[in-house]
Amino acid sequence: MGSAAARVLTRAGYEVLIANRRGRVSLTPLVDEIGSGVVPANAAEAAGAPIVLLAVPFDAVAELLEDMGPLPAATVLVDATNAWGGWDAVGGEAGSSEAVARMAGGARVVKALCTVHANRLGSPDGLGVPLAADDPDARATVSRLLTRIGFRPVEIPSLRAAADLMAPEGPLFGLTLDEDALRAQISTSR
Ligand SMILES: NC(=O)c1ccc[n+]([C@@H]2O[C@H](COP(=O)([O-])OP(=O)(O)OC[C@H]3O[C@@H](n4cnc5c(N)ncnc54)[C@H](OP(=O)(O)O)[C@@H]3O)[C@@H](O)[C@H]2O)c1
Repeated sequence: MGSAAARVLTRAGYEVLIANRRGRVSLTPLVDEIGSGVVPANAAEAAGAPIVLLAVPFDAVAELLEDMGPLPAATVLVDATNAWGGWDAVGGEAGSSEAVARMAGGARVVKALCTVHANRLGSPDGLGVPLAADDPDARATVSRLLTRIGFRPVEIPSLRAAADLMAPEGPLFGLTLDEDALRAQISTSR
C-alpha cells in the first residue's frame, strides 16, 4: 500500500518521504523505480511531513508511532490501516482509527484509503472513496489530496460514524462505486 501510494503521489506532484521497518537501503529499488520526487527516510524523518500516511499492519502501528516520536499539532495523520484482528479498545472507542488517534496522542487522524485495494490507487478512474475525520480541516486536506490523485472523495463527518462503515468487511470495504452510488450506500448503511 505504501509503495502504491508513493507511486501515485509522486505522479501527482507531491514530494514523498518513504520509510519502512528494514531501513532506507532496502528502499533503493523502489526509489530507483519511481525516480524523482521520492526520498528514502526513517520513521522520525517521515513524521516531519505535513501529511503522514500510515500503511503498516495494524499491530505495528504502536511501535511505528513510537519510532516517529511526538507529531506536531498541525500534522494530518492518514490512517490507511485495517484492524483485521481487532484492537485493544480503551474506554468508548468505536473503531480502530479512534485507537490510532489515541495511540498518536490525539493527532488529527483521517481514516482514508483503508477501503481501497492498493492496485486501485494507480487507476482511480474517478471512483468515489470514503474518508472520515473528526477535524474538518484535516478532512478537507485529505479530500484535496484524494481528488488530486483521481478519486472523488465522499466525507464522513467523524471517525465514530465511519467505524463500522469502513471496517474490514464493513459495507464500504472494497467497493468500486462512483461518487453518487457511494453516497447512497453510506446513507442506506447508516
Ligand atoms: N494491500 C492493500 O491493498 C491494502 C489496501 C488498503 C489498506 N491496506 C492496509 O495497509 C496496511 C499495510 O498493508 P500492506 O498490504 O501494504 O502490507 P505489506 O505489503 O505487508 O507492507 C507492510 C509495510 O509496513 C512496514 N512496516 C511493518 N512494521 C513496521 C514498523 N514497525 N515500522 C515501520 N514500517 C513497518 C513494512 O516494512 P518492511 O518492508 O521493511 O517490512 C512494509 O513496508 C495494512 O494495515 C492493510 O490493512 C492495505
